[in-house]
Amino acid sequence: MQDLKAKIKTLSEELKTKLQESINKNNLKQLEDARIQFLGKKGSLQKLMAEIKTLTTEEKKEFGPILNNLKNQSEEKIKKAKDQIIKNQAETATLKKQNFDVTAYKTNQKKGHLHPYSQFIEEIENIFISMGYEILDGPEVETDFYNFTALNIPEDHPARDMYDTFWLNKKNYLLRTHTSPMQIHAMKSKDLPIAVVVPGRTFRHEAVDASHDTQFMQCEGFFIAENVTLSHLFATAKTFLKTLFKTKDLDIRIRPGFFPFVEPGVEIDMRCPFCKKGCSVCKKSTWVEVFPGGLIHPNVLRSGGIDPEKYSGFAFGFGLTRLVMLRYGINDIRLLNSGKEKFLEQF
Ligand code: PHE
Repeated sequence: MQDLKAKIKTLSEELKTKLQESINKNNLKQLEDARIQFLGKKGSLQKLMAEIKTLTTEEKKEFGPILNNLKNQSEEKIKKAKDQIIKNQAETATLKKQNFDVTAYKTNQKKGHLHPYSQFIEEIENIFISMGYEILDGPEVETDFYNFTALNIPEDHPARDMYDTFWLNKKNYLLRTHTSPMQIHAMKSKDLPIAVVVPGRTFRHEAVDASHDTQFMQCEGFFIAENVTLSHLFATAKTFLKTLFKTKDLDIRIRPGFFPFVEPGVEIDMRCPFCKKGCSVCKKSTWVEVFPGGLIHPNVLRSGGIDPEKYSGFAFGFGLTRLVMLRYGINDIRLLNSGKEKFLEQF
């Protein structure tokens, strides 16, 4: 009898500890194990029930209800513990979400940076801004008028053949073949004097190889005021190249060049900034061709609504892509737009 009483006491204490343990650990599996161990068919409570058979009728009357009570209460307690664990688990999940820190820093993460194009353009823009230029952006889809006619290249002019043009399905519309159309846009929209630089994407129907692509970048620059001469162009080119290649002195050389929108037209070369005696960049000549330019043709000024008797201007247009490749020693133009990580990581 005493024995049975003691067993009941131990058993209910044991259950209490086990329930508390599984609540503390938020562990439903542990709770279920405890339930089976206690209330299951071969469980400890069942074993106690079996012991009743050995008791006298009097004792049965006393212990029967006690054990039944124990069973009911235990079921109730287990259910409560289960509810408690489920509630705790839900709370932990919400807390975890709330504490999610999107700015958390993870070590050894890869860091991104600006594309070499962007870095280079920023550098160029800063040089021209320091010389008082304004940076403009222009449309990549142009009309025949802005890309050709207004630039003194009328329809049927053979110079149109210099530009392998992507014509669009809409009549007279094309992808600009150079950044020069921005000369006309600026003349039409700005008050004189104007000093403008336009870096931007240009398009030509080229067969793609290591040095040609169907899209590349150019940078246009022009200055229109009274009494502008070629010397202004040469001085500007020299200052720009000296700053870009970080040398104190840099010789330039002028050759005649032809573009219908400049008169006279020139090709500007610079002393190779990479060698003294000739290297692969200057093809052993110590001179590197850098950009064409010239004085803006009177017809072009007229197209832009400017009186060529009163004003003059110079313009130049360099292959920004070519200059980026020269600067960083990139030997395949296709890498620039490839988005390849291995390539980009180097800059
Ligand atoms: N727009 C010319 C080209 O794409 C370059 C150029 C610009 C030449 C300005 C002279 C003056 O080839």
